[in-house]
Amino acid sequence: MSALAVTSLCPFDGTNSAIFSRADFDAIAEIVYGESGNVYPEGKAMLVYSRLTKRLQINRTASFGEYIMLVANNAAERRIMVNLLTTNHTYFYREEHHYDHFINTMRPDLIDKAMRGKPVRIWSAGCSSGEEVYSLGMAFLGEHRGEGMRIASKDVRFLASDLDDQSIETARAATYAKSALTPVPADLRNLWTKNIGDEAVIAPAIQNLIRFRSLNLLHQWPFTGLFDAIFCRNVMIYFDTATKEQLLLRFAQQLAPSGYLYIGHSERLSGPAEDYLTAVGKTIYQRTA
Ligand SMILES: C[S@@+](CC[C@H](N)C(=O)[O-])C[C@H]1O[C@@H](n2cnc3c(N)ncnc32)[C@H](O)[C@@H]1O
Repeated sequence: MSALAVTSLCPFDGTNSAIFSRADFDAIAEIVYGESGNVYPEGKAMLVYSRLTKRLQINRTASFGEYIMLVANNAAERRIMVNLLTTNHTYFYREEHHYDHFINTMRPDLIDKAMRGKPVRIWSAGCSSGEEVYSLGMAFLGEHRGEGMRIASKDVRFLASDLDDQSIETARAATYAKSALTPVPADLRNLWTKNIGDEAVIAPAIQNLIRFRSLNLLHQWPFTGLFDAIFCRNVMIYFDTATKEQLLLRFAQQLAPSGYLYIGHSERLSGPAEDYLTAVGKTIYQRTA
């Protein structure tokens, strides 16, 4: 087919520049930014090129220029493109110190709240394929089946959302390679997952706590209630400062009084959200205003 099939050369290297030009890269980066807030620096040109060449072939477009025109008028393909270009990397029990804080500082109060019949609401915002929210579910139900099942019978809900429908589908399937569960403390893993061959399936008691939904964080949020905790980790790292600060403010305002916001290890609180949140640990903030 097109000349694309015969090249695997680096973008902008002077060869085949008509196939993937700087202007093509800029146009794609602008679409991705507009749709998701994710910023693509020029150093990522090779990544853009390699992740999208297959889409050019599938759509029978002969050049990136043609593909960009298609994407501009086709919302479904635009969504696929954005999902291909966002980073979904995640794993169970990532940034263990957050789980320590969640278990030791938040959990006792939240269990007390749940047992008094009050709703407990936790949001994994940018949940990717679900490892984060399932880790939280296991940590919350704890190491004892009886207690865990009592907690699970209360009004406890985890919302897990992501831009990427494919990741949400993977998350809903609740099935992972057994080895992926290794970082989870053995007591929790043994209690709340079941091994089937090389795979581990998350227990129904945990699955039932979670509502997965497709949600772009930059759009309107379809809920009015406040959250006891929001985990938005390793998502804002790809945003520019303005987008990040706006989002941090919205998270702060969506937290219940004394609620906690957990962000990724390389992210920092900045902007107007600082008026609402106080640092209480490494990348952990509490709503204090
Ligand atoms: C690197 S993963 C982080 C997953 C998990 N929170 C963790 O820390 O392991 C980033 C996730 O953010 C999602 N994402 C990026 N931009 C988004 C947006 N504007 N709205 C919602 N999700 C977004 C991506 O689809 C991806 O699944």
